[in-house]
Amino acid sequence: MPEKIILDTDPGVDDAMALYFALRSPELEVVGLTTVFGNGPTELTTLNALRLLEIAGRTDIPVARGAANPLQGVYANTAAVVHGDDGQGNVFLPAPTTQPIAHSAAEFIVERVLAEPGTITLLAIGPLTNLALALQREPRIAGLVRRVVLMGGNAFVPGNLSPAAEANIFNDVDAADRVFAAAWPVTMIGLDVTHHATMSSAQLEHYGRAGNPLAAHLARITPFYRDFTRTFNGLEGIYVHDSTAVAFLVCPEAFTTQKHRIRVDTQGFARGKTWPARVGLYGSEAWAGRIEVDVAVEVDGPRTVSLELQRVCGSIP
Ligand code: RIB
Ligand code: CA
Repeated sequence: MPEKIILDTDPGVDDAMALYFALRSPELEVVGLTTVFGNGPTELTTLNALRLLEIAGRTDIPVARGAANPLQGVYANTAAVVHGDDGQGNVFLPAPTTQPIAHSAAEFIVERVLAEPGTITLLAIGPLTNLALALQREPRIAGLVRRVVLMGGNAFVPGNLSPAAEANIFNDVDAADRVFAAAWPVTMIGLDVTHHATMSSAQLEHYGRAGNPLAAHLARITPFYRDFTRTFNGLEGIYVHDSTAVAFLVCPEAFTTQKHRIRVDTQGFARGKTWPARVGLYGSEAWAGRIEVDVAVEVDGPRTVSLELQRVCGSIP
């Protein structure tokens, strides 16, 4: 039986890659998309979620619109330089023909988890606001999800939005801290591993040759993202941050994890930093009572990136 996932997402170029990797993986069944601000305002990321499903011929998958702002404060859009003004590499797709469902993201998550206890995995690849709101709405979901896998954070490496913080965590520090505090099984796929999962410019060329609409869309949108990475990171290729969380679900043997309790710095110059405390190694009171999170610390990046390409392109010559 495939693992049922709700993909909580802020599409986003690498979110589009992750969605298509998931849709083309028989180990997974995408039962819904929930949207959040991050790579653009929620109004835009919701339209993009609908557009991406339409391109994939999967308008049967419901899209629930999520939070427009973090738990505290107001969303500030700084991602256009990375993902384009349209969140999709400035290709400016036509309006979608479909609509989001009437329920909010938090309502949808709660309903699906209660309806199928122990079955639903929350795969979060944007800021964690919707997950925090779902927990607030119905705390019992912590014991009823199958697991939570999230792309976010940086345990032992620098951040990407600031020297201290990764973007998804930085964009809602309070929600992230609640998610790491809740008593549910969490795996953190952070920059510790995603910065070792790079798709080269030569590999990106495969999308244009694959001959299916999903790959063709990725061929259109990835050049903008690649140009950003080239300029700001000096990398000839891209980080496939969000797809690495999908890879963890379909190919866990490519990863090494360690158990840590995680706290999120919510103030000051290190705002958004995910601080790990290895169980048995530290005695700090500040982490007392926190659940142990599986933190990914190593990945066979060439393997997961190659798997992603094979799945989305069909085959690689
Ligand atoms: O730090 C990487 C994360 O933030 C990814 O989810 C990506 O979509 C970005 O905006
Ligand atoms: Ca994302």
